[in-house]
Amino acid sequence: MAHRVYVPVWSPLIRILHWTLAASVLIALFTGHDGGSLHEAAGYVALGCVIVRVALGFVGATHARFSDFLFGPKEVLAYARDFIRGRAPRFMGHNPLGGWMIVALLGASFLASASGVLFITEAYWGDEFVGWLHDASGTLIVALAVFHVLGVAAASWSHGENLIAAMITGRKLQEPR
Ligand code: HEM
Ligand code: HEM
Repeated sequence: MAHRVYVPVWSPLIRILHWTLAASVLIALFTGHDGGSLHEAAGYVALGCVIVRVALGFVGATHARFSDFLFGPKEVLAYARDFIRGRAPRFMGHNPLGGWMIVALLGASFLASASGVLFITEAYWGDEFVGWLHDASGTLIVALAVFHVLGVAAASWSHGENLIAAMITGRKLQEPR
């Protein structure tokens, strides 16, 4: 049997950012009804994670860069077709659908936390549009996160690997398999 060789893909910082962002966003969603200090603290942590992650998208290691996982419409559609048929190719980094999901999750998290920060300023306290934006972006995160986790599960299943474990250990089985 061939040797199974694991290689590092996700740096410690990428992994810490992911699980901190996911946890802080979930805490913010569960505490949204009263907008208390835990809610605000979780929101600030999420905002910090988004800012650092976007910076890493430009200066981080290979698979952390936007240029590594953002593809044009032709590639994304071709991948989506293969994905539906259950024969999507495997990617060492994020796949073309996952890549745009990352942009959407980071964008929605930014909108939610930035509108929350605005909402408690003197100038925008009680502002109808900012309140609506805060609410809508929170709902958007919930919808995106459901498809995010379903996508992770489907991609894991189709290649017989555990992508959640990879986002914890940082390592994936080396290509070719
Ligand atoms: C990822 C970040 C965040 C998410 C997902 C989020 C989500 C939510 C949700 C779902 C609500 C309930 C809305 C409603 O009851 O209609 C809410 C309310 C609230 N949030 Fe956030 N939030 C985030 C960050 C923040 C931040 C950073 C602040 C302030 C610094 C903040 C301040 C508030 C306040 C004051 C309310 C109460 C609004 C009201 O009285 O209607 N949020 N948030
Ligand atoms: C708690 C349930 C979640 C699980 C199990 C999960 C799992 C994962 C996994 C396995 C990946 C790597 C996908 C790949 O191999 O291509 C990933 C990436 C990512 N997820 Fe999640 N996720 C969860 C929640 C969230 C939430 C709530 C957000 C944001 C609001 C989020 C944002 C991201 C981002 C930005 C990435 C890209 C990671 C990077 O390159 O920095 N995730 N997630």
